[in-house]
Amino acid sequence: MKKPIIIANWKMNLSFQKTLDLTSQVKDDLSEIKDKDIIVCPSAVALSSVAGLIKNTNLKLGAQNVFWEENGAYTGETSPAVLQEIGCQYTIVGHSERRKYLGETNLMVNKKVNICLENNLTPILCIGETKDERHEGLTDNVLYHQLKECLDGVNIVDNEDIVIAYEPVWAIGSGDIAEPEEVARVFELIQQVLIDIYPLTVVKNNVRMVYGGSVDSDGAVGFSQLKLLDGFLVGGASLEINKFKEIVKSL
Ligand code: 13P
Repeated sequence: MKKPIIIANWKMNLSFQKTLDLTSQVKDDLSEIKDKDIIVCPSAVALSSVAGLIKNTNLKLGAQNVFWEENGAYTGETSPAVLQEIGCQYTIVGHSERRKYLGETNLMVNKKVNICLENNLTPILCIGETKDERHEGLTDNVLYHQLKECLDGVNIVDNEDIVIAYEPVWAIGSGDIAEPEEVARVFELIQQVLIDIYPLTVVKNNVRMVYGGSVDSDGAVGFSQLKLLDGFLVGGASLEINKFKEIVKSL
């Protein structure tokens, strides 16, 4: 396993004050940990305040979204350069909720991955099949195309990292966590696609793979032995400090 990474995606679940409270809890309980990357992803309005709270700790900051240009007439969007400026090191891109509600396509996600790397932000690229696609046996095909299209022309050099988050859409927020064996199989597939695109050294050193979708303290334990798993992208359970701590511990 590479350096484990556990990402808390708080989505749009918390008030501003609750975001600060939860950040303080994570800081109290987890900021001493050095051998795992722990990333908190608050909503955009709270990013700079959370950045201030976790400054000089081992915790890292991630955004939930980013735009594909650095500046200009793009009302309502968030600049990758400004994210970097305020202390973000990571950005989730292509989350299925954005694909579903905001119409994000692989092409848009591809531009976001590129601009992240240009701005020293590590993209957390989310891919995953829907329930229907799964039932129609299309999982591998969907993941293959998402990866190929989102990474088209994306060059990853020495000091750049990328995280691939396999989040089956049917598992998100449903309590229906994927079977570890199935995740292991999917990770093999992802790795194979990456090896087709990038030199082996890049795949080995610069890419981490995480699972997301109804990860909780019990479920996480079943994944800890997966060879290719580097961590988790956690939604609901990251809102409760005790559950989140257990998930961090499970790796
Ligand atoms: P849940 O852990 O709530 O299923 O959410 C997963 C997710 O979407 C994280 O990005």
